This record gives sequence, C-alpha cells and structure tokens, in this order.
Amino acid sequence: MKITFTLNGKKTTIETSPEKKLIDILRLDLGLCGTKKGCEQGECGSCLVLINNNLINSCLVPAFRLGGKDIMTIEGFSQTKEYSMIEEAFLKKGVTLCGFCAPGVVLSIANLLSNTSTPSTGEIRDALSGQLCRCNGFLSLIQVVVEVFRIKNRKKNAKRS
Ligand code: FES
Ligand code: FES
Repeated sequence: MKITFTLNGKKTTIETSPEKKLIDILRLDLGLCGTKKGCEQGECGSCLVLINNNLINSCLVPAFRLGGKDIMTIEGFSQTKEYSMIEEAFLKKGVTLCGFCAPGVVLSIANLLSNTSTPSTGEIRDALSGQLCRCNGFLSLIQVVVEVFRIKNRKKNAKRS
C-alpha cells in the first residue's frame, strides 16, 4: 500500500506492507537509523518518536496507522533550538548518553519542554519513565532535565530584558 505522511517536516510517500512497523520503515526503508531498536515490545523506549506531538514507541505502530500523521524523529529534532538547549544541559551536567537510549531520552525531554514550563520532580520522573537507560542513574537524568528548564527560562528572561 501507498502511505503519505510528514516526516521531519517533509511530505513523504512510501510503498509498504500495512503491518510493517514504523521502526523498520524508518531504519530500513528510509535510512533514519537514529531511532534505535531494542525490545520491540514497547518496554525500553529506545524507538521513541513524536507522532502528532505525542511520544510513541515506533516498534508498536504499523504502517497502516501512519497516513496523514506528522512524525518527528531524532534526526529532525536535532535541527531545532530545543535540541541545542538539551545538548547544552547534558554538557553542563557532564552526563553522556551511549546512543542506545539517547533518541528516546532526548525526545522525552522535548515532549516535556513542549508541555510545561516548570515541571515538578514528579513530572520529570513521569516524563522519563518510558525510557530504560542502562548506563546513567535516573537521578543524573533528572538533573539534566532541571538544567534544561533552567536554560530555557534563562533564555526567555534574556529575551524579555
Ligand atoms: S524497541 Fe520499541 S520500546 Fe523497545
Ligand atoms: S546512556 Fe546507555 S542506555 Fe542510556
């Protein structure tokens, strides 16, 4: 079947089987390997993408559900100013991501950024809860997110003055 959707801001049409999962379409058909493949059961979060601004595990989404959707992967998000803020926060806190969880963690933070301006620790925990990170402690990721919002608010205040 032919399916048309928006991918990282570009209208995209593919020919695929209806049941093929989005993770495989991205990685195998479209060469977007930033999205990682882990458990394939919706548990690890390494395959997270944004679909219509919602965080979704791409390993669970069949092609036939993609028509007309607006999909953002880590490749698209890395071109945004929000990505630069997140990158700055990771550098500032000295936290590195191994690459396996990086797309999911970054897009989880992106989703939180677009939904709130001053998240509580509980909200940050909830935002990261769909992501399994084997290398970093949860606490260090929380500190990075707090720093992201500090940077965001600093930039906002600088614009006002
Ligand atoms: S690969 Fe999709 S949640 Fe693990
Ligand atoms: S940094 Fe390696 S899994 Fe998160």
